[in-house]
Amino acid sequence: MYAFFQQHRLLLAPMAGVSDEAFRALCREQGADLTYTEMVSAKGLSYANEKTRGLLRLAPGEIQVAVQLFGHEPDTMAAQAAWIEDEMGESLAYLDINMGCPARKIVSKGDGSALMNQPELAANIVHSVRGAVTCPVTVKIRRGWAMGEETAPEFAQRMEAAGACAVAVHGRYAEQLYRGSAEWGVIARVKEAVSVPVIGNGDVRTGASAVAMRERTGCDAVMIARGAEGNPWVFAQAKAALAGESEPAPPSVEKRIAMARRHARLLSQREGKNIVRMRKHAMWYMAGLPGAAAARGKINACVSVEDFDTVFDELLVVIAEHETER
Ligand SMILES: Cc1cc2nc3c(=O)[nH]c(=O)nc-3n(C[C@H](O)[C@H](O)[C@H](O)COP(=O)(O)O)c2cc1C
Repeated sequence: MYAFFQQHRLLLAPMAGVSDEAFRALCREQGADLTYTEMVSAKGLSYANEKTRGLLRLAPGEIQVAVQLFGHEPDTMAAQAAWIEDEMGESLAYLDINMGCPARKIVSKGDGSALMNQPELAANIVHSVRGAVTCPVTVKIRRGWAMGEETAPEFAQRMEAAGACAVAVHGRYAEQLYRGSAEWGVIARVKEAVSVPVIGNGDVRTGASAVAMRERTGCDAVMIARGAEGNPWVFAQAKAALAGESEPAPPSVEKRIAMARRHARLLSQREGKNIVRMRKHAMWYMAGLPGAAAARGKINACVSVEDFDTVFDELLVVIAEHETER
């Protein structure tokens, strides 16, 4: 997959509750070369759960997406991987297997990062999924499970031997959740351990940090998650920085609010009138703006595009007043 990642160096990470097609469309527009779906439950798909299937929907004009699957039963994973490939055809760039999610409700069932404690089962899953599809299969892992026990390099080798075509590494232990900072050294160590492409992930929030990660780890692609929340422009900045060009200036307040409005409309096209999912995005777009803290309560009562527009209109008035006072 080296040729693929030469063309796709900048990736939007899978983010449950966040990386739906509306958000993916905005990140792609700003320069993300490839985006991931939210993690999709193999079990949910096997029950033909409509909500789970909905996670596979593409936005209009979305050409390709990486689908991330989670689960721990090799047969279920393989069967659902085959179903996804059948359904999505050419729009499926590759299938990624979640071996990094540390959330209690996921690991308590043996899914996500719990698989890092079960390398044999994890290898079985990769092997079974690989056998069921023609598209590439990748894994997304963490530094290890327990604090201080870095197992990622050896684990990645096993996944490669089982058929993984690339490995994404988030440099935190599962037990660490999102605390502390990501250790990029482990990305370099995984890179040394395997011969498939390695995707670096963790704490890239600016163009400069994307360049620093690539230089320090030698990773083949850079994956961004939280740095894109309320900030799809991070991809334009990272793209320029990785190309050795000067980064575009950060967006003005007006641009941030205009993006938030578009985001709300895209979500509404997907979800209908009720877009409570937009609340967290709105908070992110507004973070740090004058009047944002006071608008928080109002955002939490918003349901429709019109509700959000009203809060954004009010916020722009507060910001204009703030500017004239200065
Ligand atoms: C809200 C949220 C949802 C996430 N959902 C997923 C997921 O579905 N699958 C996954 O592999 N990782 C998930 N992650 C982890 C991210 O993909 C990424 O590995 C992590 O946030 C570190 O990258 P960052 O420092 O750029 O945020 C999620 C993270 C956040 C903050």
